[in-house]
Amino acid sequence: MKIKLVVTHPRQDSLTFAVMNQFIVGIKENHHEVDILDLYHDGFDPLYTAEDEKDWQNPNKHYDPAIRKEMDRILDADAIVLIFPIWWYSVPSMLKAYLDKVWNMGLLYKVNSKKTLWIGLAGGTEAVFEKYGYSEMITNYLNNGIAGYAGIQHSDVVFLYETLSESRQHIDGLLEQAYQLGRSFS
Ligand SMILES: Cc1cc2nc3c(=O)[nH]c(=O)nc-3n(C[C@H](O)[C@H](O)[C@H](O)COP(=O)(O)O)c2cc1C
Repeated sequence: MKIKLVVTHPRQDSLTFAVMNQFIVGIKENHHEVDILDLYHDGFDPLYTAEDEKDWQNPNKHYDPAIRKEMDRILDADAIVLIFPIWWYSVPSMLKAYLDKVWNMGLLYKVNSKKTLWIGLAGGTEAVFEKYGYSEMITNYLNNGIAGYAGIQHSDVVFLYETLSESRQHIDGLLEQAYQLGRSFS
């Protein structure tokens, strides 16, 4: 399987990147191929301009080649995995910009055979996410509002909680969870 992995974090020494690395160790055990897009360090331009707008009157509109290239990378993959910190109970603005620009060209809506996995790192506890309905809200938003709308039939959201914990044991547990997610990904 060809997996397109989109990682969002300004620091490559972050827990988000450590989670990505463990996830990759897991998926490589099943000999999946991984194509990584590191939004911050691969120079993705988050500014949405008129050039990015879909022109409903012109199906042959010429889009920025960098965006067209990202669209092709998605079309080429069997599955898409997105790893990011939860910021304000949503995705970081950089990832939102990627979704606005790359997933909003109409082309993706034809893709209905893909599988998506969203892995969100949360500073908060599972209890708080459940109490205030944040987990349900974000899961619904990502699975239905984004993946479903884009025509992706199978979408899952996993939260890794308490990422700011000072307990090494807890952080190791999150990394183990990331590895197991990779191992069981199919
Ligand atoms: C701008 C910003 C907003 C945040 N908003 C939330 C939030 O809404 N809910 C939450 O649980 N954690 C929130 N956090 C905490 C992050 O989720 C946490 O810093 C991250 O998961 C830690 O992983 P990292 O070391 O890879 O950044 C926020 C952090 C930042 C910087």
